[in-house]
Amino acid sequence: MCGIVGYIGNQDAKEILLKGLEKLEYRGYDSAGIAVKNEEAVHVFKEKGRIANLRNIVDETVAATMGIGHTRWATHGIPSKENSHPHQSTSGRFTLVHNGVIENYEQLKREYLSDVEFASDTDTEVVVQLIEKFVTEENLEVLEAFRKTLTLLQGSYAIAFLDESGSDTLYVAKNKSPLLVGLGDDFNVIASDAMAMLQVTDEYVEIMDKEIVLVTKDQVTIENLQGEPVKRPSYKAELDASDIEKGTYPFYMLKEIDEQPLVIRKIIQTYQDDQGQLTINPDIITTVNDADRIYIIAAGTSYHAGLVGKQLIETIAEIPVEVHIASEFGYNMPLLSKKPLFVFISQSGETADSRAVLVHVKELGYPTLTLTNVPGSTLSREADYTLLLHAGPEIAVASTKAYTAQIAVMSILAKVVADHKQKEVPFDLVQELGLVANAMEVLCDSKEILEIMSKEYFTDTPNAFFIGRGIDYYVCLEGSLKLKEISYIQAEGFAGGELKHGTIALIEDGTPIIAVATQASVNLSIRGNVKEVVSRGANPCIISMKGLDMDEDSFVIPEVHELLTPLVSVVPLQLLAYYAAIQRGCDVDKPRNLAKSVTVE
Ligand code: G6P
Repeated sequence: MCGIVGYIGNQDAKEILLKGLEKLEYRGYDSAGIAVKNEEAVHVFKEKGRIANLRNIVDETVAATMGIGHTRWATHGIPSKENSHPHQSTSGRFTLVHNGVIENYEQLKREYLSDVEFASDTDTEVVVQLIEKFVTEENLEVLEAFRKTLTLLQGSYAIAFLDESGSDTLYVAKNKSPLLVGLGDDFNVIASDAMAMLQVTDEYVEIMDKEIVLVTKDQVTIENLQGEPVKRPSYKAELDASDIEKGTYPFYMLKEIDEQPLVIRKIIQTYQDDQGQLTINPDIITTVNDADRIYIIAAGTSYHAGLVGKQLIETIAEIPVEVHIASEFGYNMPLLSKKPLFVFISQSGETADSRAVLVHVKELGYPTLTLTNVPGSTLSREADYTLLLHAGPEIAVASTKAYTAQIAVMSILAKVVADHKQKEVPFDLVQELGLVANAMEVLCDSKEILEIMSKEYFTDTPNAFFIGRGIDYYVCLEGSLKLKEISYIQAEGFAGGELKHGTIALIEDGTPIIAVATQASVNLSIRGNVKEVVSRGANPCIISMKGLDMDEDSFVIPEVHELLTPLVSVVPLQLLAYYAAIQRGCDVDKPRNLAKSVTVE
């Protein structure tokens, strides 16, 4: 979490940094700050809350052509102006921004900085104070002081700092947290995500862990921790600037929900060969086929997509699959099969919990595959193989189109593996995914009715329950997560048969129960579960699929193949959550306490 930008060139740095931070707000929005350097001094502006608050306090009259910026998701120290970045060393000479967690910051404080008075509660301040200490007390050159500091740090970091009395240089380094250098004519930039600096350049260079980068207006010098020079070619960021704008939509989330039919069509197209056959890298197929068990590792919405993926892969490709929450798996590894394959599902490709597992299983020598929306992301670079989601940038914190893209790509993976095993798949996946895209379009056109339903069920309710059986249960987990993360209504997803084993005690008059019924084999049993709660006063909302629908149903989705229903049934749940959040006046795209890319464990 947290986002970093930096600029050094000839233009007004303030505006470029602020615009860049606005594009990084998805990484955290507890506070924001910039520091710009001119001939007089380094000027720091920081404020609690959103970038908009920061804009209000930036002194327009300060002219400067280099600077750094930061948007924060608080870990160490409450969200406050004092804890906002940039942080300065005691003398004010060094000014630094940091994304990540310095795990040994308390020990470093004790061992090296007991005489320093700290201005914040952050782990970050230790870094800038150490640099100053080594420069003043050990007479080290700034670069050497930086190098020495980095050798002491444990944990994750993307760091950039300025030296008020030194040359016009951005000092940069990273470990585990993402950071890129962007190249321009007469200027250079840094950013946690290329999206932030697309405003000035689309040419980027990756930085690897434990490298130090010196960025000046016309030069970028990369070296490793030992001081040896590193050469790396640049690449063009394949991002269309219009993809990262909201257009006429009030919120990115609504835009991204509406983009889902297009994303599904794009995935079909991208994974088809010239003959219209679904195809993926043959090495991936061999790797999957060689595995006796697949372990899907993911967090949040991606975990929910993984649950659906298990059903798809087991049914279509007949390979056993386990799905694990990344943060749990890291500390509590189950007994593994003899030939496991690890599949990491991650929209951002940066989730630290997933990365920790990836690093560990790589050390154990197991094959790894990442499904991600972000080419070149950490999980993509570090896994043996990558399958891309092709969903386009997802900016709203609550994931929508990445979830459906993840499921669609897993269905393709399952089908291609089954074909390779010459196992008959009794349906035409391309055609069925096409029907899914059409059905999604119908649902995106049903916003008015879903807005009314959302009012009926969610106005004033403190809680809501989502129930389903089998694959519908997995969708309920995602539907309830959408509702709770953006509307703050306490919502839980339950397996239909499980609610009565305890949680039914919470049902009161009017408690909304959203039931998803898209599976013929459990259609009657889920309806029986609805009756159990209705007789205790619940307010039921049954979302069924055409062909299985009954008079009592509130909303009917178009018919699609029963294995692919999650791609479609999730759309009304996303829209119900969206309208619930709107009714409650919530900031749909930036829910409180959350961040889109969680780069701390
Ligand atoms: C954060 C986001 C969630 C997301 C999860 C996993 O918690 O708020 O929306 O599902 O991270 O992210 P990933 O990028 O790994 O899919």
